[in-house]
Amino acid sequence: MERVFSGAQPTGNLHLGNYLGAIRNWVALQKDFECIFCVVDMHAITVWQDPKELRSNIRELAASMIASGIDPEKHVLFNQSQVSAHAELAWIFNCVARIGWLNRMTQFKEKAGKHRENASLGLYAYPSLMAADILTYKATHVPVGEDQKQHLELARDIALKFNNDYEVEGFFPQPEPLILGPATRVMSLRDGSKKMSKSDPSEMARINMTDDADTLSKKIRKAKTDPEPLPSEAAGLEGRPEAKNLITIFAALTNSTVDKVLSEHGGTQFSGFKQALTDVVVTKLAPITEEMARLNNDNAYIDAVLAKGAERANAIAQPILRDVKETVGFLNS
Ligand code: TYM
Repeated sequence: MERVFSGAQPTGNLHLGNYLGAIRNWVALQKDFECIFCVVDMHAITVWQDPKELRSNIRELAASMIASGIDPEKHVLFNQSQVSAHAELAWIFNCVARIGWLNRMTQFKEKAGKHRENASLGLYAYPSLMAADILTYKATHVPVGEDQKQHLELARDIALKFNNDYEVEGFFPQPEPLILGPATRVMSLRDGSKKMSKSDPSEMARINMTDDADTLSKKIRKAKTDPEPLPSEAAGLEGRPEAKNLITIFAALTNSTVDKVLSEHGGTQFSGFKQALTDVVVTKLAPITEEMARLNNDNAYIDAVLAKGAERANAIAQPILRDVKETVGFLNS
């Protein structure tokens, strides 16, 4: 049985990195897999969130997933904290995962910064909850951007150690990361060495899915580039991370490849290319942005979708959690 699971944090606007690296691929996978998509609010509070904002961010993220093409009728779309199996399995995994494994997580090091002692325990245990998200459904495939690869490796290690420790070979599958398409790591518009991120203090560094045409045009016009024209071959992008990023975004949005984009635009100046890129971004994002705005006015609909999704997710998770509890030696009620 093949099953896709993935999630995104409701910590602010969805940006083009989330869309190209993950959500667009989720939409495509709906054709061939049974899919479960999750708004991971429990992951979000590993860093303090304003409660009122969190509540509205949860609804907005669900709305943007639907606006991007997630079908909540055919597949399951829900909010993590509304299905208690995630928290329950995460605790069991906290007792399976080793401190040494978590010490290696680069995202924790980045997010905790210099003052690691002040980071929440939840931020440290973040990957263990992520493993629980996936394995509470015995999901086999996990479409993510490149930045989540290390967390996925940890989920595989936890699954294997659980199976070994309790002598239940094959109980949990080894979930496979699906890192798809040309834009698996979209970079900041201001600095080609940093990934595009919700937490970047500069709004100019990212393209938000809610940006209007004027804002998009301004951000792309001001995006950092170098003075050279576009090269005609991918090898010419070596050492030019900002140029590479803009061309990769263009390729991803036009369902093309970097080579093809360069064969068409090689030799032109960035000013002209940026105009072409703006046209592509505006055309591709406008229908999604419009639908997001419409859904954001309909909290009742979003709440109903999430309630139904939680019910369906719970129905899949409960029998698996029951088996886990039995395996570990807990009393099942
Ligand atoms: P999050 O909310 O940071 O991001 C959601 C998805 O977007 C991808 N992504 C990117 N892809 C390309 N370029 C970028 N600049 C970029 N930024 C983000 C992420 O890789 C991700 O796929 N820990 C996860 C959420 C999570 C999860 C899970 C994912 C929780 N449980 C279980 C899969 C399975 C996260 O913080 O994603």
